[in-house]
Amino acid sequence: MSQEMQTLEINGKSFTLDADPNMPILWALRDILGLTGTKYGCGAGLCGACTVHVDGKPVRGCLTSIKQAAGKSATTIEGLEADKLKAAWEKHNVPQCGYCQAGQLMSAAALLSTTAKPSEAQIDDAMSGNICRCGTYPRIKAAINTAADNSKVEA
Ligand code: FES
Ligand code: FES
Repeated sequence: MSQEMQTLEINGKSFTLDADPNMPILWALRDILGLTGTKYGCGAGLCGACTVHVDGKPVRGCLTSIKQAAGKSATTIEGLEADKLKAAWEKHNVPQCGYCQAGQLMSAAALLSTTAKPSEAQIDDAMSGNICRCGTYPRIKAAINTAADNSKVEA
């Protein structure tokens, strides 16, 4: 693997990494930078546990290379500013084991940043790539609706 200095902006801070530019940022976040809130699930783009934002859009950390994220602004669960969404998550006691939850929150926050009042279908579509083995889907949806002030499903 070729090593090269790569500069990444993560959660508003600039980091220079001596790493293979093709390394997935999930590895860089967890193993080099110690930002372990972002989880490794499948490593193949199938589960969403590794979801982070790059320039505000949700991406798979396991499929996005350092090179692809270089020069852009990345946000991880550690830097996510989504107080209303987090409060809704708490209100609905969403997590069970918790493993998928960082990815779920990152996808939900990305949805609400572009669609303030998503429909059920928009929620389903935005969250369809995030798998939860504990089946917390109804609570995830309720929390998103609460955060969006979609009063009809307020619980
Ligand atoms: S670990 Fe990236 S999608 Fe599963
Ligand atoms: S809360 Fe356990 S996998 Fe989602």
